[in-house]
Amino acid sequence: MDNVFVAILMGSENDLPIMQGAADVLASLGVKFEMKVTSAHRTPAATQQYLADAVSRGCDVFIAGAGLAAHLAGAVAAHSLKPVIGVPIDAGPLQGMDSLLSTVQMPAGIPVATVAIGKTGAKNAGYLAAQILALKDPELAQRVKAEREQKAESVQAQDRALQESLKS
Ligand code: RP5
Repeated sequence: MDNVFVAILMGSENDLPIMQGAADVLASLGVKFEMKVTSAHRTPAATQQYLADAVSRGCDVFIAGAGLAAHLAGAVAAHSLKPVIGVPIDAGPLQGMDSLLSTVQMPAGIPVATVAIGKTGAKNAGYLAAQILALKDPELAQRVKAEREQKAESVQAQDRALQESLKS
């Protein structure tokens, strides 16, 4: 299990500010990851080569973010049997709807688990990848659970503060 990692791919360096959200979540949960700029359209052969290499080194989940006619996640899914999570990115005049539809509308048999457009989606991609790896890693499962409990406590604290402010 030591060499298991998540690969976070993005079609352009301009996607990095969004995809950093996935990296931050994985880092906070103690999940190993690597990041790579590679494009389904501009560097198709290099993308395919990287996928095979990453799987041979222990990559168990791919996260792929891209904007515009976003085919990176689909291309990854086409060339790998590992789970693929797609992050649609707002990179143009259609505000990410183009990327959302390109990423989510995969033909039957080649799934891409598509999350929300942008930073929230990138964060959820990180959580989802961690949950997938946690199926076979009880310590990671414990960290995922603890993080959920922390989030729940934070909401309850917000409500306690609201109730207090309403009294005054
Ligand atoms: C996609 O095209 C990339 O993922 C990026 O979101 C978009 C625009 O790329 P740049 O022209 O900004 O490099 O392939």
